[in-house]
Amino acid sequence: MKSLIQNVHHITLCPGGAQQDIDFFTKVLGQRLVKQTVLMDGNIPIYHFYYGNADADVGSIATCFPYSRKPGRAGSGQLSSTSYTVPSGAIPFWKDHFDRHGAENSGVQERFGTKYLRARHPAGLLVEVIEERSDTRNPWTTTRISRDVATRGFFGAVLSVRDPREQESFFVDALGFRKVGVDGPYHRFEVPGTRAGRIIDLHIEPERTPGSWGFGAGTAHHIAFNVETDDALLKQKAVYEELGYTDASEIKDRFYFHSMYVRSPGGILVECTANVPGGFYKDETPESLGTSLLLPPWFEDQREAIVSQLEPITVPEENRPKAGTTPKAAVGAQSPQQDSAIPLSRYKATFDVDKQTR
Ligand SMILES: [Fe+2]
Repeated sequence: MKSLIQNVHHITLCPGGAQQDIDFFTKVLGQRLVKQTVLMDGNIPIYHFYYGNADADVGSIATCFPYSRKPGRAGSGQLSSTSYTVPSGAIPFWKDHFDRHGAENSGVQERFGTKYLRARHPAGLLVEVIEERSDTRNPWTTTRISRDVATRGFFGAVLSVRDPREQESFFVDALGFRKVGVDGPYHRFEVPGTRAGRIIDLHIEPERTPGSWGFGAGTAHHIAFNVETDDALLKQKAVYEELGYTDASEIKDRFYFHSMYVRSPGGILVECTANVPGGFYKDETPESLGTSLLLPPWFEDQREAIVSQLEPITVPEENRPKAGTTPKAAVGAQSPQQDSAIPLSRYKATFDVDKQTR
């Protein structure tokens, strides 16, 4: 089949504490905080942080729900590692850098002939840096992480499954990936095209206990793949249904993009995402991305109740507006929601403080 999928759009993780997560992603991994918002499902305010490269490219965005309310259980049937590309020769820097920050790491390893290093987020989540010389995306840099070593965006992700067969068929038949190799317990899949972030490695772990599926600290929640348009999202839903994956969700309005979810056979939740015009820039200018807490318009009237229940955070210096500048709202930020050509679902939450005592 011709794939509707272009590359990874984002990867969504559940860390624990909000500040701990910001510190790891910005100071240790050197990511740009590109969006501060909240979970758009449910009635309990949970931060939703987006981290990415300098341009907030699709395919560089890790999104995090700091979910200190409940621990999750890492295991099979989950995304087990988020993989970033770094320039050739950068691995020794990252080994020293992780050590300096006390981030537990694997030491240098190799998979499919490429060097990589795996490190642990304080909540237990795993991230990798993988050498890839051809990635020309624009990195975010910090005082400690210069352009010659900084991450460019996603290489892809590692998914842990007990049995590869049905998961492989899902990637090939439902998503249009092709299998490109096997290296020990890793089976590699690639979606056709030229964009970065098109690689998925299934890590076959037959003995690994299945992990939890809901939100829970220390676990990955889902992986999202980019499709070009809303129409492609509808077509992808039809592909799922034709193949018998009838639990594909309705199409949800995530303000910056539209989303549709399905539980894949190995247990991993898979989202497909179509960007809306403006994407991450629709409510912030490029310079001020991630510098203030933004809510979708249908949550704005509850801002006070939401903010009062969130952990106070400090955004690192590099992720604040430059001294002497005043962040301006992007053109169209306050304009009413445009009608969509496709039916969309929005959850109308009630952020009642009393619910916190349940
Ligand atoms: Fe998502």
